[in-house]
Amino acid sequence: MNLRTTVQAATIRLRDAGVDSPDHDARALAVHVLGLAKPSDLLLVDELDEHQLAAYDELVTRRAARVPLQHLTGSVGFRYIELEVGPGVFVPRPETESVVQFAVDALTGVDRPLCVDLCTGSGTIAFALANEVPGATVHAVERDPEALEWTRRNAANRVKAGDPEVLLHLGSAEDALPGFDGTLDLVISNPPYVATTEAHIPDPEVVDHDPGIALWAGEDGLDVIRLVERAARRLLRPGGLLVVEHSDRQGRSAPALLERAGGWSEIQDHKDYADRDRYVTARWSGA
Ligand SMILES: C[S@@+](CC[C@H](N)C(=O)[O-])C[C@H]1O[C@@H](n2cnc3c(N)ncnc32)[C@H](O)[C@@H]1O
Repeated sequence: MNLRTTVQAATIRLRDAGVDSPDHDARALAVHVLGLAKPSDLLLVDELDEHQLAAYDELVTRRAARVPLQHLTGSVGFRYIELEVGPGVFVPRPETESVVQFAVDALTGVDRPLCVDLCTGSGTIAFALANEVPGATVHAVERDPEALEWTRRNAANRVKAGDPEVLLHLGSAEDALPGFDGTLDLVISNPPYVATTEAHIPDPEVVDHDPGIALWAGEDGLDVIRLVERAARRLLRPGGLLVVEHSDRQGRSAPALLERAGGWSEIQDHKDYADRDRYVTARWSGA
């Protein structure tokens, strides 16, 4: 069967099913089924054999049922690394890349920085930091044992790829790293932040496939950010940096939370690459 015609038909199926990026996803699934390295390699293939066609058809059917693309391919690219993901763990999002960029820039010139990624999920932020910040020691904390299984798998892959080991901890952000009080250079987090009162229902890929513990965070969506703030004031050294992702509706409420808590200086909110409010940063005064 002709590849181009098959991918075009799949694009129409995915578009009719309400998938956001039907053309991209139809090509990504073809790349996956054919075992190609990159989308442009599709230009080198004319035909799908019978087995490839059956495998492709099955994946397109599941994608049309709104199973996340990354659950079907089994992985996601995040900054310079590849992470394994699937049922039981939150799929890393591109907007978190801008959050990591801020931390990487801020750590430039800090000698052997000591960092923690709270609410690490698949290890997204922690493994990116270990990959990009020379000399960093990175801890990663996750409350959900099922998610931490994915973190462990990714940890093994990253060490095989030559990155420094990230130290994994099962537990809640609020109790993170007892014994490290007042010593950390960076506390960073992409925590759950969807308000239970949120009127806009997220896409089926999110509500049906991301774990609930990764999404919901109380009536105002700030419950876990409050835990992260409390952990950060305990863990950071004076002058240490807090970087926390939030929803595009929390560009005022997240910085206000830090103002009210007190002890934070240089509180700033930032936009992501799509120009939406996305993360707050602040320095711990040591007060
Ligand atoms: C939005 S997901 C983000 C995962 C990862 N940081 C990323 O960007 O891909 C939030 C993660 O926080 C975890 N989590 C929720 N409450 C937590 C808590 N109190 N302490 C630690 N982790 C928590 C969830 O299990 C989930 O893996």
